[in-house]
Amino acid sequence: VTPVPREKTLDNSLALLKEGYHFIQNRCETYGSDVFETRLLGEKVICMSGEEAAALFYDKDKFTRQNAAPKRIQKTLFGENAIQGMDGKAHEHRKQLFMSLMTEDRLQELADLTTEEWRARLSLWEKEEETDLFQEAKEVLCRVACHWAGVPLEEEEVKERADDFWDMVDAFGAVGPRHRQGRKARRRGEAWIKKIIHEVRDGELEAEEETALYAMAFHRDLDGEHLDSQMAAIELINVLRPIVAITNFIAFSALALHEHPEYHRKLKTADDAFFEMFSQEVRRYYPFGPFLGARVRRGFIWNDIKFEKGRLVLLDIYGTNHDPRLWEEPYKFYPDRFREWNGGLFDLIPQGGGDYYKNHRCPGEWATLRVMKASLDFLTKNISYHVPEQDLSYSTVRMPSVPESGIILSEIKRK
Ligand code: HEM
Repeated sequence: VTPVPREKTLDNSLALLKEGYHFIQNRCETYGSDVFETRLLGEKVICMSGEEAAALFYDKDKFTRQNAAPKRIQKTLFGENAIQGMDGKAHEHRKQLFMSLMTEDRLQELADLTTEEWRARLSLWEKEEETDLFQEAKEVLCRVACHWAGVPLEEEEVKERADDFWDMVDAFGAVGPRHRQGRKARRRGEAWIKKIIHEVRDGELEAEEETALYAMAFHRDLDGEHLDSQMAAIELINVLRPIVAITNFIAFSALALHEHPEYHRKLKTADDAFFEMFSQEVRRYYPFGPFLGARVRRGFIWNDIKFEKGRLVLLDIYGTNHDPRLWEEPYKFYPDRFREWNGGLFDLIPQGGGDYYKNHRCPGEWATLRVMKASLDFLTKNISYHVPEQDLSYSTVRMPSVPESGIILSEIKRK
């Protein structure tokens, strides 16, 4: 048995903080291996990258999600004890609940709502000197998410709710104030949505049958019981929050349009297929989710490397999306690469890999693409704008990475 490459330093948490999205890939390159062992936050961890590693990571006989996500992530991003940490039949049953929302009709409605909400902002923008696209996208998507899910939302509360949903996401790589902000946002969000779940169950608020609100309020677990109201709220937030998080992909799309004006020109007359390729490339190229975690269910050996029971294993999302074995010139933004893509389950993994129904792959991937394409359509076909001087950089260390300036637009005009 070859010894797995082992980091000699006592703990690499600081290196992770310094190298951010490149942490795993840097070491895989140094060791000439897709797998290595290190210590993070005082725990032994196996890190791995690439398509084969991704396929391994989604082998449910080998890995469990129980106790994989640290409490600090559950108290901000995920919600405690929700779908992300479930296994086996219970997970599959819960996953069906999410997948049942993603019918073609409902996805089309989501795209239409997105277009409508963007257009509704236009008369205001035309009067403004400058518009912060990131903040606007958050609020637009918060309206879209709530409307689509059947959750009532007053115009006066849009900003606070939108900021709260984003803050839950923004906390995932943070310590200190940004983490505390995320916890506060989650407490406030859960209290709000829990109240709405109660109102629906008590018949005080009507929920349409096809909505996420209805689904979460009246779902029955394998034991035949409804979810308790806290869990129903958490799972409903697991629909609302990530729709708002698409903000980041929209901001990165606008950045890509600015950095590659040839694509901006092309998209003005492009068909859906090219919108799809562009959106896929945004999801591949820009940093958002860095890695995923699972624990070894029972010990096994893979590529001569021993995976001990209980060990935390991290799968490199960013590195796999930039693996030169999978992507020619991975650090070039090149949507046309998707012309030849075969739709692999383990190579493009910005929202996880493998099977939607049997595994943890993001159930919102189609929804994300629809919202991105509708937003991109609006940005390229419905308006013209100018991008004034600003800091257009984004960090590959801060998690999540966001465009520094938020992408400020000026001279917005409807076409
Ligand atoms: C899971 C990313 C949008 C709902 C995930 C996972 C990732 C991810 C990386 C984990 C996959 C795994 O554990 O193997 C993203 C990104 C999004 C996005 C980057 C776009 C901003 C959405 C949307 C929804 C959604 C729009 C719902 C409408 C979920 C749920 C899970 C999940 C419920 C847990 C699935 C499970 O554990 O089985 N997402 N997602 N996500 N996502 Fe998304």
